[in-house]
Amino acid sequence: MPPTNPLIRPCQTADLSAVTAIYAHHVTHGSGSFELDPPSLSDMTQRHAAIAQLGLPWLVACRGDAVLGFAYAGQFRPRPGFHYLVEDSVYIDPAHTGQGLGVALLAELIRLCEQAGKRQMLAVIGDSANTGSIALHARFGFRHVGVMQASGWKHGRWLDTVLMQRSLGLGQRCHPE
Ligand SMILES: CC(C)(COP(=O)(O)OP(=O)(O)OC[C@H]1O[C@@H](n2cnc3c(N)ncnc32)[C@H](O)[C@@H]1OP(=O)(O)O)[C@@H](O)C(=O)NCCC(=O)NCCS
Repeated sequence: MPPTNPLIRPCQTADLSAVTAIYAHHVTHGSGSFELDPPSLSDMTQRHAAIAQLGLPWLVACRGDAVLGFAYAGQFRPRPGFHYLVEDSVYIDPAHTGQGLGVALLAELIRLCEQAGKRQMLAVIGDSANTGSIALHARFGFRHVGVMQASGWKHGRWLDTVLMQRSLGLGQRCHPE
């Protein structure tokens, strides 16, 4: 039987243990994140609060009571000129990849960032061999805008960072003021 459609909703404090466990898997075994040590629940709680303070979305994908993935948008850089550019992050429980959860999360994340008035979204993808993340972003119209070669060292090898970008809403066709 195919998996049921996930529920996509804002992340709540009670979801953060599952979020921490999903992210820990990808930090420990994957190359999508260049963190080397999994952050604790307390670290993730602080990160979640910081995103909420910025008025940006942090979402989870659920089936029943189970949190199977999460996505959030953060400011690319804190300097005020970057205000309209957000960076997205998407992580799926490894037992549930390839089931459309990444698509469902990123669609809603884009919608909410447009609603929040953001104008560009950047994916900073660890590892040029990260075909899953590159395919996910390409599906939403993200264009390749650069590769930072050998910009990370993890699992005993150099890793590229692939940059992909798309407009949100009217993008650069609208002046914010
Ligand atoms: C990348 C990731 C978020 C994708 O989420 P997902 O739920 O597995 O992806 P979906 O099932 O929604 O599929 C999204 C698209 O990517 C494609 N895709 C997914 N995994 C793929 C893979 N390993 N290789 C090639 N294409 C893949 C799907 O075919 C689909 O494209 P389509 O709709 O045009 O067919 C997920 O695999 C993941 O958590 N990866 C590890 C962490 C990571 O690198 N996160 C991104 C950090 S920027």
